[in-house]
Amino acid sequence: MKVIRVSPEEKLEEKLREGAEIIKKGGLVAFPTETVYGLGCDALNEKAVERLFRVKGRRADKPLILHICDTSQAYEVAEVCRDAEVLMDDFFPGPLAIVLKKKSIVPSITSGGSDKVAIRMPANRIALKLIELSETPLAAPSANKSGGISPTKAEDVIAEFGDEIDMVIDGGETEVGIESTVIDLTVKPARILRTGAISVEELKDVLGDVEVVEKRSKEHYRMNADVKIVDPSAVPEVVRHQLKEGKKVGVCAFEKTIDFMLETLDAEKLKVFRVKDEIDYSKKLFRAMRELNDCDVVIFQSVQEIGIGRAIMDRLREVSRHRSD
Ligand code: TXA
Ligand code: MG
Repeated sequence: MKVIRVSPEEKLEEKLREGAEIIKKGGLVAFPTETVYGLGCDALNEKAVERLFRVKGRRADKPLILHICDTSQAYEVAEVCRDAEVLMDDFFPGPLAIVLKKKSIVPSITSGGSDKVAIRMPANRIALKLIELSETPLAAPSANKSGGISPTKAEDVIAEFGDEIDMVIDGGETEVGIESTVIDLTVKPARILRTGAISVEELKDVLGDVEVVEKRSKEHYRMNADVKIVDPSAVPEVVRHQLKEGKKVGVCAFEKTIDFMLETLDAEKLKVFRVKDEIDYSKKLFRAMRELNDCDVVIFQSVQEIGIGRAIMDRLREVSRHRSD
């Protein structure tokens, strides 16, 4: 596996040409988006998609998002309805994937056997240039093995796949940190299948009625640690209790919550991960899950379920439901 480091100021075309050549030949290239790293291949090449599913260990009925670099590409792979045009206008490029009726050019394996396809235009210059040079939409799930935590750094991807993939493009840490919002426009009212940085409120503003699917049953983040979601005011008490039981405890919370807690607690056997606010929390959520994974129990402070808070809480609930053992 080859690793290429790219900084945003650089001339991208020269650096990314080799990656695009690998994609054109049916290879697998991991690349940064604004949300998390994706493991990309030519979405229209069945063989390449088949290998992608195999390497990721992904169930065959879980569809892949098609990443495009220009809205005109959407029309080649999907039946673009009026609402989709409005959403593309407002939110592309950005952390939103739109599910539409698929066109026959998209192999059924890519869409997990479904007649729908999700499209998304990432707000990341490296991703957009790679798609452009590859001259095809890229199917790109998060670049982790199925059931794992989505990667926000190239190092996470390298550790996870090694030589199982052909290239990793290292563009530094991703900004948003959690995966895109997924919205299905083939049903009325439109359905949010996965919450993300484009909030339920923003989508309601544009579309009017929007339904949120409560059970994100198809995402399965897992931690080895026992995960508890705790109201900030109760964090010190819960931590104290867990420490008393002799557990190695991890805490991810706002700075003020942590500072307040440390005034009264002995920090030995305690691992803390500070975040500044909701935006910083989403950006570092998966990093915190990775870093605190060697604890017996990890306490995440809860946040209000508005804006990006909803997306954070959905992911916390997910990881608290599924333990890896
Ligand atoms: O932020 C993201 O979306 C990242 C980056 C790499 O772009 N990608 C990502 O892909 O999270 P993945 O495969 O890990 O998650 C895609 C989600 C899954 O929940 C999948 O079920 C849903 O999108 N999805 C994709 N295509 C769909 C379709 N045709 N119908 C319904 N859901 C779909
Ligand atoms: Mg994923």
